[in-house]
Amino acid sequence: MRRSSEFSIRTRAWTVVATVIIAGVLVTCGAASLLVYSGAYDIAADMPHSQRVYWLLQKVRRHSIAARADDVVPDDLGDGKRIASGAGQYAEMCSSCHLAPGMKRTEISRGLYPRAPELRRGSGLTPAEEFWVVKHGIKMTGMPAWGVTHDDELLWDVVAFLRKLPELTAEQYQALVKSAPTHDEMMGKMDMGNSPESGHESHQ
Ligand code: HEC
Repeated sequence: MRRSSEFSIRTRAWTVVATVIIAGVLVTCGAASLLVYSGAYDIAADMPHSQRVYWLLQKVRRHSIAARADDVVPDDLGDGKRIASGAGQYAEMCSSCHLAPGMKRTEISRGLYPRAPELRRGSGLTPAEEFWVVKHGIKMTGMPAWGVTHDDELLWDVVAFLRKLPELTAEQYQALVKSAPTHDEMMGKMDMGNSPESGHESHQ
């Protein structure tokens, strides 16, 4: 008799626990779908995230980048040619969003949300992390994945320039950009199998 009543008390306890868990899951799923399907969340770029959402996204971004950035960093990031090539690419591909020394805010940089940080103030990232971000981009932010169209060597040139950028005056920046090879010259050096045009021709 004692055994069977013990058994039924345990069974009842487990039933209660299971019911509470299932109810919890259902309520959470219900609330989440209501949030999604009612359109309650404002995704407008001119309406900042709440503090909590912003905090969460920052954490997700920081840890995601740190966990993935493990490329071996070239030891010639201080090389003048790399920095000049990076400066030319930066002026063409990045400055419209991230600005540059002596440059006024652009329309695109004013409308972007999340904002593109002004990289002349430094990024706070390691070279390997900067390389990862430049190569792969960041989802839902407007930061493109430049690795789709550029090979690693060119992107390391950009990182070499980013390391130098915080020290540059507007004049030094302009001089570096002028000394850079043209975009076509730089792209010409790239392994052609990697370019979107050759991919298109071979119907990949
Ligand atoms: C269309 C706008 C746009 C262009 C062009 C662009 N970026 Fe970005 N970039 C962003 C935005 C927006 C962010 C911020 C993303 C975020 O808050 O998570 C960002 C983030 C970054 C970061 C991370 C900064 C940090 O502190 O975490 C780096 C590094 C970076 N970009 C480098 C570049 C480089 C180099 C180029 C050019 C090759 C480039 N970006 C071109 C919009 C752009």
